Amino acid sequence: MKKIAVLTSGGDSPGMNAAIRSVVRTCAYHGIECLGVYQGYEGLIEGDFKPMDARSVKGIINKGGTILKSARSKGFRTEEGRKKAHKQLIDAGVEGLVVIGGDGSFTGALIFNQEFNFPVMGIPGTIDNDIYGTSHTLGFDTALNTVVDAIDKIRDTASSHNRLFFVEVMGRDVGHIALNAGIAGGAEEILIPEEDLGLDRLVESLNRSRKSGKTSSIVIVAEGDKIGKNIFELKDYVDENMEGYDVRVSVLGHMQRGGAPSCFDRVLASRMGVKAVESLLEGETNYMVGLLDNSIGVTPLEKAIKGKSKINLELLRVSDIMST
Ligand code: F6P
Repeated sequence: MKKIAVLTSGGDSPGMNAAIRSVVRTCAYHGIECLGVYQGYEGLIEGDFKPMDARSVKGIINKGGTILKSARSKGFRTEEGRKKAHKQLIDAGVEGLVVIGGDGSFTGALIFNQEFNFPVMGIPGTIDNDIYGTSHTLGFDTALNTVVDAIDKIRDTASSHNRLFFVEVMGRDVGHIALNAGIAGGAEEILIPEEDLGLDRLVESLNRSRKSGKTSSIVIVAEGDKIGKNIFELKDYVDENMEGYDVRVSVLGHMQRGGAPSCFDRVLASRMGVKAVESLLEGETNYMVGLLDNSIGVTPLEKAIKGKSKINLELLRVSDIMST
């Protein structure tokens, strides 16, 4: 293999730049060429490529977002789009592709490989941590630190004004951010998609903690929570069914996706980039690199896409005990 391309796809996450840097520098280390693809799969279709050498990724390890930009491509979902993308890669002399993204991006990579037998390797980049085959996705640790910092600040107001705050965090289908940041931020309740607490039990539990002497409370709500109401309806319900608290809502939104990656994410990205390139050079294809038991390994893309990343049940119990 003499030339590899790298792209970022789906929602950006802190650590993507560090992973691009690692892919580019690992290519340089092994004396092969590297092309950066702009705008994810859209850029693949359009041939929006730029040669990258070790120096073109200087000063980015500490930057959030992705210098290659990202997109959720509709074109790549069509056979015609993928055909164009394949032609662009062949014309540019590319022999392997590293895709940094989430499970949607990996599904695209796998289909692409099956259609054209083109070698692909995935690096999991999403703050949601919702990918099977790695204990941590790139950006998860940074997002947790951002959320905990926000909860700490909200708590100042909650306790100064004796308020109950509902804080919505990201996590479309999973509660990893909510559960971990909720425990670290001392939340009274954590509502996640994996568990339906039910409105009555929520109010009961908040009443219990109020009676035990708490004067303020924070409830963390994952955006994909299955309780059946959005966070503003939740607030209204609790307002109507509970005495004694002034209730407020805070939706953290995209601030969770930005910012400088944590030390953990920078190291993880560097390790994953090396493994992705070296696996391609060893003739491997259709794998996602991941962190398992603190070692970098690979999982077949198909498994990574189909498998479910499960929440840690021990954390649920810890959270229950901590909110006593
Ligand atoms: O997949 C990561 C994620 O941050 C989800 O938690 C969230 O639902 C989604 O992206 C938001 O995506 P967008 O930026 O397209 O609104």
